[in-house]
Amino acid sequence: MERTKVKEEIIKLLNQALQLEHAARIQYLAHAELVSGLNAEPIIERLKEIAEDEKKHEDIFRKLISMLDGEPTMSMAETHSAKNIQEILEVNLKDEKHAVDVYTGILKRINELKDSLPYEHLTLEHDVRHVIMDEQEHISELKILLSRTD
Ligand SMILES: [Fe+2]
Ligand SMILES: [Fe+2]
Repeated sequence: MERTKVKEEIIKLLNQALQLEHAARIQYLAHAELVSGLNAEPIIERLKEIAEDEKKHEDIFRKLISMLDGEPTMSMAETHSAKNIQEILEVNLKDEKHAVDVYTGILKRINELKDSLPYEHLTLEHDVRHVIMDEQEHISELKILLSRTD
């Protein structure tokens, strides 16, 4: 595959990831404002901490897009509302799993196309893998919070 085409494909995938990160950060921050009640404080704190991680992921994806001479998107993916703590945790758990699935697909594509990305492949691979590991951590944190609200 031609190098320009490969770069274009990866830029498009990274922009999809960036849209997911925009949506995730906004969603966590909005949900954090909805949580109330006696045991809310640790959950609010955790949602805001995760939002900070999503902001770091935005920065990573923007940096990778710009490394490939692409233009980082300013748009965002769909957000999902929730009415109570239980719903908030469930909806975000589902979205985190979706993010892992999408990013794992991107990682696979980066590896398939690595011969056309001799100067970028390892940086892409390393950074996308790092983001996936963070999302997996978010999944286990949300699961712990969910078991506490049961
Ligand atoms: Fe993220
Ligand atoms: Fe996340």
